[in-house]
Amino acid sequence: MSSKSVNIIKNIVREHTEWRGSCINLIASENVVSNAVREMLISDLGNRYAIGFLHNRFYSGTRYVDELEGVTTDLAKRVFQAEHVNYVPISGTMANLVLFNALTAPGDVVTALSVIDGGHASFRECSKIHGVSLVPLPFSMENMNIDIDEAEKVIVRVKPKLILLGASEILFPHPVREIRTIADEVGAIVAYDSAHVLGLIAGGKFQDPLREGAEVVTGSTHKTFFGPQGGIILCKNRYAKDIDNAAWQLVNNHHVHRVAGLSIALAEFEAFGSNYADQVVKNAQRLAEELYSRGLDVLGSDMGFTKSHQVLFKGTNNNGDATAKRLEDANIITTKTPLAYDKTEEECSGVRLGTQEITRVGMVEEDMIRIAELIKRVVIDREDPSMVREYVKELTNGYREVKFSFESGDQAYKYVNL
Ligand SMILES: Cc1ncc(COP(=O)(O)O)c(C=O)c1O
Repeated sequence: MSSKSVNIIKNIVREHTEWRGSCINLIASENVVSNAVREMLISDLGNRYAIGFLHNRFYSGTRYVDELEGVTTDLAKRVFQAEHVNYVPISGTMANLVLFNALTAPGDVVTALSVIDGGHASFRECSKIHGVSLVPLPFSMENMNIDIDEAEKVIVRVKPKLILLGASEILFPHPVREIRTIADEVGAIVAYDSAHVLGLIAGGKFQDPLREGAEVVTGSTHKTFFGPQGGIILCKNRYAKDIDNAAWQLVNNHHVHRVAGLSIALAEFEAFGSNYADQVVKNAQRLAEELYSRGLDVLGSDMGFTKSHQVLFKGTNNNGDATAKRLEDANIITTKTPLAYDKTEEECSGVRLGTQEITRVGMVEEDMIRIAELIKRVVIDREDPSMVREYVKELTNGYREVKFSFESGDQAYKYVNL
């Protein structure tokens, strides 16, 4: 009976892997990892604890973990050009929670974008958990960005302890320099949530929050940064102790196999990250142009559509949910998303695309033309999605290998039998 269950489970995961390998994967928050990273994820480290600080652990048995984390820290500081790094949080959400715990106290005020304007639910949830009040940063649909003049009024009025920039829907760099100047008027800390754009920042192709005035950067290690799923915090040395202490208290078990995988991804990024990030942005810009020229209502048309990995468009009849479902029926995987003029965050009139995973498997600008045409056939021409699916499969057949890594031939969508 139990071995039958094992087979059922393995088959489900095998089918999932094969299916996603035959899809055009445009979720803006996912990516694929190299075999070297995968090898770390199935290593014995996944069975171990390493509570505590480097060379000062609570449990015995961590001599190699200390060696590994010494290497990881050096690599991360170089790749992100950060004074201090902490990769203890096991997700971007957890990284934000650590930030709130370390640098705010109950009763403080935090300002950040609301979900409807592109902010992440963790901004709200971390505020609730930590007893701080969250005041939304004003957003301008016209610029698809934080409204600096209105933000200044809010910041001067509410005097936040922390101003958190960054977003889940982020087409253009946030005004970190301008917000830094305003923050100095009221003595606020400026932090930047780079969950989506960490890889573009590390590749030098988006913005550079730490040099522009942010003191702390939180992020996910698996979206545009192509590491295993996890969280990270970069900060100035003056916040290192508070961040490290909060991280250990909150996370406790930080999943050391993930750290080993992150370490490999950092080495890959150091070698290939700049070219990869460049191609991600070029692909996003080309995809947006091609969709727009085929009649899709792509946002940001008068500003060059995007400077990140993301493309946003309005769903058919302003229904992002139905549009994303039709696309999924054609094996084109996207995300419904709220847009700033929606009345509630559940309304989700838009669809969000990301080009980082298709870039990691080797797609370039010409492929964006083919993808845009397939999306148009489903969304504009209203072709039967199951008919389009065959063309999607044909396209993805040529893109199954992980690029921007040291070994060639790594299969991105292979179920591994041990
Ligand atoms: C801006 C932002 N912050 C935090 C997160 C949470 O990251 P994770 O999914 O790694 O918890 C996300 C997720 O998409 C995000 O968009």
